[in-house]
Amino acid sequence: MGASSGMGYELAKLMLRDGHTLGLAARRLQPLKELQTAYPQQVKISAIDVTAADAPQRIQSLIEELGGIDIYFHSSGIGKQNWMLDATIEEATLRTNALGFTQCIGTVYRYFASRPEGGHIACISSIAGTKGLGVAPSYSATKAFQNCYMQALEQQANMRHLPIRFTDIRPGFVDTALLNDSHHYPMLIQPEKAARQIYKALLRNRHVVVIDWRYRLLVPLWKLLPNAIWRRLRIRTRDGE
Ligand SMILES: NC(=O)c1ccc[n+]([C@@H]2O[C@H](COP(=O)([O-])OP(=O)(O)OC[C@H]3O[C@@H](n4cnc5c(N)ncnc54)[C@H](OP(=O)(O)O)[C@@H]3O)[C@@H](O)[C@H]2O)c1
Repeated sequence: MGASSGMGYELAKLMLRDGHTLGLAARRLQPLKELQTAYPQQVKISAIDVTAADAPQRIQSLIEELGGIDIYFHSSGIGKQNWMLDATIEEATLRTNALGFTQCIGTVYRYFASRPEGGHIACISSIAGTKGLGVAPSYSATKAFQNCYMQALEQQANMRHLPIRFTDIRPGFVDTALLNDSHHYPMLIQPEKAARQIYKALLRNRHVVVIDWRYRLLVPLWKLLPNAIWRRLRIRTRDGE
């Protein structure tokens, strides 16, 4: 889900090259059609808006068309800096990253719970969920929601003895359309590189993975910072570079 650009698109390409059969979804069909043209035997596509009421039905139809799935990968998301707390941005972010995410993950969780072999649920959240970031409040808060939701579902699946695996992927800054706003983002990596690391994490059944190594060092350090210091930090990107 969210295979039309960025990390989702790059991961799809890697998995197709390895011979996997994929159901690709997003609102924009054109990039999905291009992958289908390149790999006609391996790709089914569907136009799905994660915020729409029919998203669960469309996911189920795609699963049926594929004859079942073993892994669901959720890459859909939006995010913007929002100093003025523009309500349009805040609400759209909540609808996509919290409500849309929840209804998609819920649909596949119930699907995997219903079959003996279970499955694997993976999502791209973000390091932005590990602390409240002043530049993008709703983005940061919805990513924290995703981190917590995945953790809660994993505990629930264990309590219910369901064979469902979970991978929560938390990248730092990645050079995709999501950051296309003329700000300068430090320690930026390319989506192809992020996708390679994501793919490896999926194959290894990792529970939580921070990408890349520089953020793996940074995130535990900033999590240790007391709130008295965190709330005074000036974490912002420079404009116009
Ligand atoms: N780029 C970064 O620095 C960064 C860092 C950490 C985490 N992330 C997270 O990584 C994920 C992927 O983002 P990206 O960086 O690869 O950006 P991207 O290129 O903008 O990709 C976002 C994907 O989400 C899909 N999407 C957005 N709204 C949707 C909706 N309502 N319904 C269905 N699909 C929707 C888009 O497809 P359509 O527009 O075609 O629907 C697109 O395929 C996001 O969750 C993002 O928060 C990004």
